[in-house]
Amino acid sequence: HDVPVLCIDGPTASGKGTLADQVAQRLGYAVLDSGALYRATALAAQCAGVSLQDEERLASLAATLPLHFDGGRCFLDDEDVTDALRAEAVGQGASTVAALPKVRQALHQLQLSFRRVPGLVADGRDMGTAIFPDSELKVFLTASAAKRAERRHKQLMEKGFSANITGLLRDLEERDARDKNRSASPLKPAQDARLLDNSDLDIEASVNQVLTWWSEGR
Ligand code: C5P
Repeated sequence: HDVPVLCIDGPTASGKGTLADQVAQRLGYAVLDSGALYRATALAAQCAGVSLQDEERLASLAATLPLHFDGGRCFLDDEDVTDALRAEAVGQGASTVAALPKVRQALHQLQLSFRRVPGLVADGRDMGTAIFPDSELKVFLTASAAKRAERRHKQLMEKGFSANITGLLRDLEERDARDKNRSASPLKPAQDARLLDNSDLDIEASVNQVLTWWSEGR
C-alpha cells in the first residue's frame, strides 16, 4: 500500500487519542479515532432502542452509521455528538458492542477508508493487529491503571462531569478485561509493536519517542 499508516493501540485512557492527534499534526496526517465508531454504534443503538445483545441489528446500524467528522467534531446525522460520545456509559456500551464479530466486520471497511494521502495515524485496540497489519509503525501504548484512572478523572472534571476515582478505576479495569478477553480482535500488542509505557512521560516526550521511531523506520 502506498499510503503510510502509523498505528497506536492500547488500553482505555492510556492517552492514545492525544498522542495520535499530536503525532498526526506534526506529520500533517489525518487521524482515525476508531473508538469513536464503536461509541457511535452504542449511542445510535441507545437512541434507536436497540438492545446491546442484538448482534444482527447492531451490525446493520454500524454498517449504515450516518457518521461524519468535521473540524475535530463528530456528527451523527446533523447532530454534534462529540461530547455525548465521551460519556462513561457510552464507553461501556462501546466495549459491549465491540465484542460482537459482526459489528467489527461492519466497521472494517469504514476504517480502511480513512487511509488517504499523505498518511494516517490510527488509534484503537486492533489497528496494528487487524485493520492495518501492513502498517509501518505499530505502537502499543500503556500506563498503570492508577495513572490512567487519574487522567480520566482530570479529563472528566475539566469537561464538567462529576466522577469518582475509585469508580473510574473499577470501570476501566472492567473494560480492559472485556477488551483483552474477547475472542474477536482482542486487545494485545502486535508481534512487531513497539511498547511505550507513558506512566511517567509527559505528552511531549511520548510524541518525540513516536516521531523518532517513525523517522528511523523510513
Ligand atoms: O478508545 P475508546 O475508549 O474510545 O474505545 C471505546 C471502546 O471501543 C473500547 O473499550 C473498546 O472496547 C472498543 N474499541 C475496539 N476496537 C477499537 C477501538 C475501540 O474494540 N479499534
